Amino acid sequence: MAKKSTSTSSKSKSTSKKEEEGITDEELEEALEESLEDDGMESEQNAEKTEEDAEEEGNKVTTKKKSSSNKKKDTEEGDELDIDMGLKESDIKLVDVSSFSVKDIPGVGPSIAKKLIDSGFSNIRAIATLPPKILQEESGIGEKTAQKITQAAQEICKIDFTTADVIFERRKKLGKIVTGSNSLNELLGGGIEAGAVTELFGEFRTGKTQIAHQLCVNVQLPEDQGGLAGKAMYVDTEGTFRPERIAQMAMARGMNVKDALKNVIYARAYNSEHQINIMKQSRKILESENIKLIIIDSIIGHFRSEFYGLGSLAPRQQLLNVHLHQIVQLAETYLIAAVVTNQVQSKPDVFFGDPTRAAGGNILAHGSTYRIYLRKSKADTRVAKMIDAPGLPESEAAFRITEKGIEDV
Ligand code: GTP
Ligand code: MG
Repeated sequence: MAKKSTSTSSKSKSTSKKEEEGITDEELEEALEESLEDDGMESEQNAEKTEEDAEEEGNKVTTKKKSSSNKKKDTEEGDELDIDMGLKESDIKLVDVSSFSVKDIPGVGPSIAKKLIDSGFSNIRAIATLPPKILQEESGIGEKTAQKITQAAQEICKIDFTTADVIFERRKKLGKIVTGSNSLNELLGGGIEAGAVTELFGEFRTGKTQIAHQLCVNVQLPEDQGGLAGKAMYVDTEGTFRPERIAQMAMARGMNVKDALKNVIYARAYNSEHQINIMKQSRKILESENIKLIIIDSIIGHFRSEFYGLGSLAPRQQLLNVHLHQIVQLAETYLIAAVVTNQVQSKPDVFFGDPTRAAGGNILAHGSTYRIYLRKSKADTRVAKMIDAPGLPESEAAFRITEKGIEDV
């Protein structure tokens, strides 16, 4: 029967204030859904789908079977789709802008170049893909100049139309980070994808932070071992980052522990504005530090505790939207895997199936490319369910959290 989630209310620092106002978390979230009614249909449908699935399965953990049948399905589908498009490497590659400097953009003189570089815009593709307004605000250049620069950068990067066969080949080359569990990798279509945002959501102690730690270690592995041969950036909003766990996990993989720790760049975010600011600043180091993974654990905590009361819902969602756009843009521009963790909110009206759903409403639902719901099972076993993924079936996988990290059951 409906077990009410306690994670949300026990974690929210604003609970007492909300109680004073006589508003519960659930009422707030309900109001949020209503206030975004048009958009909300999809999210409701997703939530319903999740419940139906849970009902169908009678809440049993039949993950092994399910994931192996999915594996078969994936392989078959994969085989069928393993078509050589006959394209040359040069057809697939994005325009190489690495040799360009911002000074090469028509209209950029030394003083504008300095402003751009100082504010972290040294990558032409980043300039080309950002709204000119953001470029203007963050670098302090004029509105017209920002517009001209963005357009010129788009021309250099040839950001226009592409045919699907080229996208098909490009997607085949996207890097993935393995999780440590084969069944979880299968669920993800190989691992956590570079260039995309993956959201892990679930109640407390379901393994969100542990997976995040494991990925910080695994991203450092060479590509032939399931990594991206890069560093990780960990934005910790809850104070739950533990370098000791990174050390344990690295040791279990036979890695040099000191190097493994040096390759995780840590930032503690103290409030939502700070969290957004860290993302802005990160631009300055993503390329120079060869960062291939960004973790934000959790994306929503500060937003939930700072914005309370019905009147705050719209500004909260707006700011969250800005933040998610930052993350999506960084992931796509620098081909970085972005992993965000999210809390759940309880649905008190649900009596069958799982009475929880992801917090953050539609903004998060639309912003993440992959959404994975985590839940507890027996002892150290956890179950991951793919909720929303373009091109991947909805399926489940079981994994364990052990001293060594994330492992198969
Ligand atoms: P919240 O942040 O509270 O929402 O939870 P979470 O989903 O981030 O949970 P987290 O990833 O922190 O998972 C906690 C679980 O991992 C607990 O059940 C611990 O038992 C387990 N865990 C953490 N460290 C270790 C360890 O060193 N060894 C083992 N065996 N388990 C661990
Ligand atoms: Mg956590």
